[in-house]
Amino acid sequence: MNKALILFTGLTALLFLLPATQLAPEPTPTPSLQDDMPLSDLLRQLGEAPAIHQARMDLPGVSVERGRELATMGYTTKPSGKRSKRISRFFVCTACHNLEREDPDLSRSDPQARLKYTAERQMPFLQGTTFYGLVNRRSFYNDDYEKKYGDLVKLARHNLRAAIQLCAVECSQGRELDPWEVESLLAYFWTLELKVSDLNLSADEKAMLEKALQGKADKSSALKMVHQHYLLGSPASFVKPPENRKEGYAIQQEAEPENGRLIYQNGCLHCHLNQRFSQFNLDENPDSFRFLRKHISRYSRYSIYQVIRYGTTPLPGKKAYMPHYTLERMSNKQIEDLRAFIEWQASL
Ligand code: HEC
Ligand code: HEC
Repeated sequence: MNKALILFTGLTALLFLLPATQLAPEPTPTPSLQDDMPLSDLLRQLGEAPAIHQARMDLPGVSVERGRELATMGYTTKPSGKRSKRISRFFVCTACHNLEREDPDLSRSDPQARLKYTAERQMPFLQGTTFYGLVNRRSFYNDDYEKKYGDLVKLARHNLRAAIQLCAVECSQGRELDPWEVESLLAYFWTLELKVSDLNLSADEKAMLEKALQGKADKSSALKMVHQHYLLGSPASFVKPPENRKEGYAIQQEAEPENGRLIYQNGCLHCHLNQRFSQFNLDENPDSFRFLRKHISRYSRYSIYQVIRYGTTPLPGKKAYMPHYTLERMSNKQIEDLRAFIEWQASL
């Protein structure tokens, strides 16, 4: 036989063999704990009902890639092939939300741990909670957000689809999304779900889970243990500027200007540098710092206390606005660190 024929018969044989091996009935594997296992798989195997916000992939036009474009660029290609209308004239989702993990311990919302963790990864420090793990949460716009959006929150509190619409229209000052856009965003968000490795499980906890998966330990207590390793919703407390803006917040420790630098660079400049998401420009020139210093203790919209704790008021559809930082997204101590940084830089 010549070489070509050997190759040919060899390949044909392979072609027949491949599907055969794929079709061979596999024994159902005993589930075992893997680091890269999606959290929703683990929860399902422990007996939890799946979340109601599975993406409807059967709807025409729905895709992960379209969802990714909507979240990061604010528009995508319509099923018809045309460019879709921008969600917002002012913002994209990533102006206010990260896409990656932002907390070292997912069972706590600790702004200082988050500031360090995000700074090490050169990520911004923002008002909205990260989309990473969004689909694993069960409630949205928690606690005090009801004060800001009232009845709108009632719909969104336990419904991720409604939460997405609320943020497209209200937070982004944009338009309502079409169903295929919402489902595409969901499809994309499912690619950002938590993994078993994100839970920081101890060796004992892993062993317990492994047993539960094999039916040798109680599944409901394993489920309870897993829930203790991440937050089912982001807590949100609205707080006021200090009573006396000259004195600032009473804090336990001395303010740390270097910590304030991280907030300025990774928070404020994310939106204000070169007027990226705001008409109000901030940079690292002395003029910016002197302007901010002058207004710190005033009752003005340029006071950092005012703008961080209250944000600015959106005029519906007319203007960009600044969302405030809740206590869980920026602590009083961190605001004093920022003040110390601004005052230091303004005096150079
Ligand atoms: C101008 C800032 C801003 C923009 C732009 C924005 N958001 Fe938000 N979003 C927020 C803030 C602030 C919250 C408050 C709750 C939180 O995330 O902790 C929030 C909450 C959410 C929540 C609920 C999260 C939770 O865990 O409670 C979802 C879902 C959401 N946004 C989706 C979007 C999507 C999708 C877009 C883009 C179409 C978007 N957001 C654009 C600021 C923004
Ligand atoms: C998510 C984006 C975003 C972040 C982060 C952000 N801002 Fe803003 N900020 C805005 C927008 C939008 C406005 C509205 C004013 C405008 O666009 O003209 C604004 C307004 C302001 C104003 C009032 C300006 C005016 O004309 O009323 C000040 C002062 C300010 N921001 C300071 C800060 C500081 C200090 C930080 C960091 C702690 C910060 N901002 C973080 C988006 C942001």
